[in-house]
Amino acid sequence: MLIRTGILAVIVIVVVAFFWFVVGPGPLDFAGGKTVAIAAYSGANPTGVPVEFAKDDLVTRGRYLTQAADCQACHTTEGGLPFAGGRAFKTPFGTLYSPNITPDRETGIGTWTDADLLQAIHQGISRDGTRLYPAFPYAAYTYLADADVLAIKAYLFSLPAVHNAPPANSLAFPYNQRWLMAIWSFLYNPDQRFQPNAERSPEWNRGAYLAEALGHCGDCHTPRNRLQALDNHRKFAGTVVQGWRAYNITGDQDTGVGAWNNAELTSYLSTGHATGRGTASGPMAEAVDLSLAHLSATDHAAIVAYLRSVPAIPSPDLPAPKAEPAPAAPKLGTPAGIDSRGQKLFAGACAGCHDWTGVSPLSPLATLTGGRAVNDPSAANVAQIILLGALRQTIQGVSIMPAFGSAYSDVEIAALANYVVARFGAKPSAITAEEIAELRRMQ
Ligand code: HEC
Ligand code: HEC
Ligand code: HEC
Repeated sequence: MLIRTGILAVIVIVVVAFFWFVVGPGPLDFAGGKTVAIAAYSGANPTGVPVEFAKDDLVTRGRYLTQAADCQACHTTEGGLPFAGGRAFKTPFGTLYSPNITPDRETGIGTWTDADLLQAIHQGISRDGTRLYPAFPYAAYTYLADADVLAIKAYLFSLPAVHNAPPANSLAFPYNQRWLMAIWSFLYNPDQRFQPNAERSPEWNRGAYLAEALGHCGDCHTPRNRLQALDNHRKFAGTVVQGWRAYNITGDQDTGVGAWNNAELTSYLSTGHATGRGTASGPMAEAVDLSLAHLSATDHAAIVAYLRSVPAIPSPDLPAPKAEPAPAAPKLGTPAGIDSRGQKLFAGACAGCHDWTGVSPLSPLATLTGGRAVNDPSAANVAQIILLGALRQTIQGVSIMPAFGSAYSDVEIAALANYVVARFGAKPSAITAEEIAELRRMQ
């Protein structure tokens, strides 16, 4: 009897430990409370398009949802036709290319049925039954209502068919074994649709649907475990994507967005910029320009309300951002320990647009003061923006920061990035030429 109880206790502990460490909580588990079927929820239906667009035709509604889900970002190459696929996803195990999702019958999804697309979006299974890699965020899209997936399909099928076969993947063994993704899906894809939380407001539930099912914020902002699944013990606590640091967006005061007010968050999400908080670059600029900027004001407010409810988690390596501008002249000389080449390069290539103070005389978008990137002692995003620049066709016109990747060596870019962080941030950085070379390899 005692032995049997002992064995049972061990099994229970192993199972609990398995779910705690290997599987972990789902993206919405932090909220607690009871979830109910949409029909049983007392508030407005959190899925679909905002009420003001409810009477639009299916294709128009599908367009809104396709933008909210940002399908275009991953399924388009730089300068390529929208949705024609071929964007490279570089991983340490090889390169994966996104497929063509235009209605071309040979190279796209022109022959797919409704059931085929639902299966791909909800379960990560392609039309021929092959398993898809979670670089395609189906563990988030699984929460999408069927009607929304079909609206997205109607929109995609209304676009011109583009004949384009992306390159074949080059993943090494065992990562090329697609069937392994069946195990991954069993562990990490709940394969269930969004259910409203009965104890939360309609606005919160709409925000949850936008951030989790459509906008997949966690795919970039939540750290991953060893099996590349989101570790929701550290939900939204920040991680690295495509060589960029996607910062902590929990409510932590100093290292998250807890000190940002609602207007600042709304402005950042809808325009990619908030005065005194910096400008979105890289993957976030893309998410804003292709997706978030197109959402309604009510949807921005809903995302903000939802973000506010996510538990605060500190990022120990980040300081509280420095709000004051730097001195008006480079009179401090090179900050101690920083390569003197950084200041010379800044004088020649950067000070004209960014000023010695960091408050840009040209455009508020180019003001560095208070931004997270310059207050990040890893200097990752500062280095990336120097390498790649920014050419954003935003709703507020074109803002341009030239790319300096081909003009400067790795040593020079490291010196420049460390100078910028030391001058405008709260804590100096020590990025190395080797790390710059690694960022170039990831591009
Ligand atoms: C974060 C990047 C990303 C986003 C966002 C994304 N996809 Fe994908 N998608 C991929 C990648 C990568 C693959 C290929 C996965 C593989 O080869 O296993 C893929 C595969 C697919 C497939 C399977 C095609 C086939 O031939 O098997 C479909 C369909 C698809 N995506 C549709 C969509 C739709 C619709 C959206 C928006 C709701 C979307 N994707 C958003 C990256 C993305
Ligand atoms: C494709 C990846 C990606 C997705 C998807 C994404 N983000 Fe980001 N986000 C980033 C990166 C990278 C940065 C840092 C940008 C920079 O330094 O310029 C960032 C920055 C931010 C910031 C500013 C943080 C700070 O301290 O400056 C906020 C707020 C934010 N994201 C919110 C969101 C929300 C909300 C969503 C979902 C609706 C989302 N992001 C989706 C990659 C992403
Ligand atoms: C022609 C004007 C121009 C020049 C020259 C220029 N920048 Fe920029 N920079 C901008 C603009 C505009 C932005 C905002 C980009 C955007 O909209 O995403 C920016 C953004 C940045 C950011 C990100 C700000 C944030 O809040 O995250 C950093 C860091 C930066 N620049 C550093 C530099 C450095 C270092 C140099 C010199 C090598 C330089 N810039 C040269 C115009 C310029």
